[in-house]
Amino acid sequence: MKIQIYDNYEHMSLAAAKLLEAQIRLKPNAVLGLATGSTPIGLYQELGRLYREENLDFSELTTINLDEYVGLGPDHPGSYRYFMDQQLFSQVNIDYDSTYVPNGLADDPEEEMADYEALCDYLPRDLQVLGIGHDGHIAFCEPDDSFATYCHVAELLDSTIAANKRFFRSKEEVPARALSMGIKQILNAKKILMLVNGEAKTAALKAMVTGPVTPKVPASILQLHPDVLVLCDEAAAKEL
Ligand code: GLP
Repeated sequence: MKIQIYDNYEHMSLAAAKLLEAQIRLKPNAVLGLATGSTPIGLYQELGRLYREENLDFSELTTINLDEYVGLGPDHPGSYRYFMDQQLFSQVNIDYDSTYVPNGLADDPEEEMADYEALCDYLPRDLQVLGIGHDGHIAFCEPDDSFATYCHVAELLDSTIAANKRFFRSKEEVPARALSMGIKQILNAKKILMLVNGEAKTAALKAMVTGPVTPKVPASILQLHPDVLVLCDEAAAKEL
């Protein structure tokens, strides 16, 4: 695991965008794994600028997102499909049919995730962007007694619902279940780019990097991946 510390969120985001830009220019038909949450917003904004001002071409890319809430469709402002459409897909010339997000409205969520597992096998990712939850979760792989190996339907912890309620009108509106990629597919990506910023993530970052590999801190499994780059800001890194 390599770690690069930036003085603030903006510089961290610009550095992340440079890495994605290099990936896309070197391999225009790359498969990118993408994440949602507040953390990658600066990265997505810069990718939009690179498209508009520096001819970065997204037309041959394929993207696969990590997760989605059960019960929320593309038109719901709290859904991750909506987030991706707003933050990135509508800002660049990506082929919408080559962007994959689990279907929150699937009749059978379990079957949806079995299909998603097969999709991830079929489209190995060149690079996976990740964020981390305050409790060390990645995607919606929550702290537990064992790792959530496969693409699955997750029961969200109260702490995760509380942390994500800012994207909804109230805590009650946050779905209690989500569709999530599992650890196996996350680790299948050739390269992983983890972004961590802000003081609220200090403990999670420390546990991920220096703690034991344990399902109690799902992100700690990244210690076993051969090519992980962590970009963080000084606030998050202050206990490293
Ligand atoms: C959610 C997502 C994760 C994300 C995490 C952190 O739980 N499922 O993929 O990394 O939130 O989000 P934020 O960047 O908003 O702190």
